[in-house]
Amino acid sequence: MSRQPRIVGIGGTQRPNSSTELLARAVLDICASHGADVRLFGGEQLAALPHYDPYSSDRTGGERDFVEAVRQADGIVIASPSYHGGVSGLIKNAIDLLEDLRADERPYFDGRPVGLLVSAAGWQAGGVTLAALRGIVHAMRGWPTPMGIAINSIEQKPFAEDGSLKDSQVAGQLDAMARQLAVGCVGLSNRH
Ligand SMILES: Cc1cc2nc3c(=O)[nH]c(=O)nc-3n(C[C@H](O)[C@H](O)[C@H](O)COP(=O)(O)O)c2cc1C
Repeated sequence: MSRQPRIVGIGGTQRPNSSTELLARAVLDICASHGADVRLFGGEQLAALPHYDPYSSDRTGGERDFVEAVRQADGIVIASPSYHGGVSGLIKNAIDLLEDLRADERPYFDGRPVGLLVSAAGWQAGGVTLAALRGIVHAMRGWPTPMGIAINSIEQKPFAEDGSLKDSQVAGQLDAMARQLAVGCVGLSNRH
């Protein structure tokens, strides 16, 4: 790839200092430190997206901006909390809006690596939600990175009060994911 890889993150909750959003930001920051052009759609922006209506083609500026950013992305990061054992409605609403990419030459996440992160209050919900996200990415023709990350927000506190990462084990996982995203951006783009 002769230009900077573009990596778009979709992740977070409306909670201040959302651990999900911090995880998405952390992996994007590593990608940026390796030269990627990154952009995060966090909890606040995702909450401003209207409830997706597949039977209407009216779109707000925010919806168009989001869909276009994912269209132009070489790699994607999705970070969801586990809500009732699954992907939160905020994240799923944004993903459903990507139905607008269906008729593209490169539909949905086709041919692109997707890094997946989950924050849950227990191990079971983290694992189940990570598996659900992998199913979604497969349905949307993306390539989940081998490294998927689920943190237990009760037992792990990977971020300091100022939002900086303080857990070396989670840092290692995020590094591995960022490396796999970079490899995927280059390797998979050669198919086109
Ligand atoms: C509506 C709701 C439902 C939740 N359901 C679950 C659940 O089923 N299992 C679980 O382990 N945690 C559950 N949680 C806890 C969140 O997954 C957890 O606090 C997570 O770390 C929040 O992410 P955040 O820091 O990005 O807001 C739930 C939280 C909320 C608000």
